[in-house]
Amino acid sequence: MKYEDIPQVAQIDREAFPGEWVFRSESAYKQDLDNPYVRYIVACNKRDVSESEGQAVQKLPWFKRLFSYERHLNVSENIAGFSGFWMMMKEAHIIAIGVRDGYRRLGIGEGLFIATIELAQILNANVVTLEVRASNEIAQELYKKYGFRVAGRRLRYYSSDGEDAIIMSTDNIASMPFQASLQHLKKAYAQRHREIFAQVR
Ligand SMILES: CC(C)(COP(=O)(O)OP(=O)(O)OC[C@H]1O[C@@H](n2cnc3c(N)ncnc32)[C@H](O)[C@@H]1OP(=O)(O)O)[C@@H](O)C(=O)NCCC(=O)NCCS
Repeated sequence: MKYEDIPQVAQIDREAFPGEWVFRSESAYKQDLDNPYVRYIVACNKRDVSESEGQAVQKLPWFKRLFSYERHLNVSENIAGFSGFWMMMKEAHIIAIGVRDGYRRLGIGEGLFIATIELAQILNANVVTLEVRASNEIAQELYKKYGFRVAGRRLRYYSSDGEDAIIMSTDNIASMPFQASLQHLKKAYAQRHREIFAQVR
């Protein structure tokens, strides 16, 4: 994610998290991008990169080169989704993951989620954690698919309406069983969503 992506990401945030967006204003995103403990990833049409930037891009993991997506967004709306997390010691805590309305159920959220876990691993996280609304079964399905388990509950966590948050967490993401499962899921994802995975080398 770059500074110029902030307006679109904030817009997707407002759509995806109605009532909560005031806590992640554009200035909050800017602060996050300046924070070395915070990472954001965007799912976007393939970017034009300069030659020097292009060389750097080649060295990045596949998710940094996402997405050459068939259903092109227009120039002013070239971002389909985002995810963000902060690192504290060996824990990566997901701040949010959101996909633009009209682009859901296409594999974009899952691609972002895989990318988030892999980036957390590169940054030496042992576990990935998150909070999710108790009623948000769609997101919980995605997290369960990737081995997240319920680790607790925060009562009346969401100030907008007093809903509880479910805390979910992985086992050690560097462990053999987690890695085997992740690689298996990633392979299945690559086969199912070739158009998104097209940039992977
Ligand atoms: C959660 C969210 C990011 C998923 O993104 P998406 O691009 O639509 O998801 P994908 O198409 O990649 O689906 C991946 C998995 O998510 C789950 N999922 C997604 N949509 C679902 C639905 N309508 N019903 C049940 N499960 C669903 C499934 O496990 C799915 O895997 P499957 O296709 O093998 O069943 C998206 O729905 C969203 O932005 N929601 C609003 C914001 C939000 O709730 N964010 C999470 C809280 S931080």
